[in-house]
Amino acid sequence: MFTVSVYSLKGGVGKTSVTLGLASAALHRGVNALVIDLDPQADATLGLLGEPTEGTDVAEVISSARTETIDRAILPAPWAEGENSHLHVLPGSHRSAVLDSPAPTPREVRRLREALDKRTHQYDLVLIDCPPSLNGLTQMALAASDRALVVCEPGFFAVTAADRALKLAAEMREDNLAPRLQPLGLVVNRYRPRSVEHQYRLAELRELFGDFVLDPVIEERVGLQQAQGGAVPLHRYEGASGPRLTADFDALLTSVMDSRRHS
Ligand SMILES: Nc1ncnc2c1ncn2[C@@H]1O[C@H](COP(=O)(O)OP(=O)(O)OP(=O)(O)O)[C@@H](O)[C@H]1O
Ligand SMILES: [Mg+2]
Repeated sequence: MFTVSVYSLKGGVGKTSVTLGLASAALHRGVNALVIDLDPQADATLGLLGEPTEGTDVAEVISSARTETIDRAILPAPWAEGENSHLHVLPGSHRSAVLDSPAPTPREVRRLREALDKRTHQYDLVLIDCPPSLNGLTQMALAASDRALVVCEPGFFAVTAADRALKLAAEMREDNLAPRLQPLGLVVNRYRPRSVEHQYRLAELRELFGDFVLDPVIEERVGLQQAQGGAVPLHRYEGASGPRLTADFDALLTSVMDSRRHS
């Protein structure tokens, strides 16, 4: 089991898109994956299941870490029909909002890890899509993770936001709240190569964060939104930008899986 939290201080930077793109690449490569939707907005759940969940969700799993609860909550994603590997979803809903404390106790922070340790050994990759804050739910995700993957856009406020996100991971590791956690890096998303401002911000991020800025940088492409709107995995999206999008997420998945060796 190898667990990666996809998180950021800011909203709307592309956490869910990166999670779903990686899930599509994992499915295509035959990597058995589980996506956990910790965000009360439940966008990943909608993207993967096509509808909000009525059943057992991640909030219940966190509140009662029994194996029966997890087994009931985890669902197969329709994306995986006819494929050789599994893609499963631990759905989220608005119900997780009450668990998102700004000052969680260490016991609360460990709750997701305790629940997952009982049931996620069958997966090669577990991706956790976090809400847009560094509060309790994101801390629970980091405590359960091997790697911290920060998403940012190439803008003026990205540096501070990325810095705070990476510092949280380092602090949690130091405090032994996230014993297995290591930083994986920064995914720069929605990059427009012809924008001088974006070129400048990307250079700035590379200067400050060095190798933490992951390759590839993900460009802004309407195809990504069209694939999401049609609830199809990127690897089955047939629009003009499909091949570039899948190449980017295949390469990002390689960076993620390769980081496993550097522990
Ligand atoms: N590379 C991209 N190209 C084009 N559109 C993108 C790209 N990345 C994200 N988007 C779009 O930007 C919007 C926000 O993306 P997304 O929902 O993935 O961000 P998020 O960080 O998960 O947001 P939140 O903080 O609300 O959870 C979505 O409409 C998504 O389709
Ligand atoms: Mg999201």
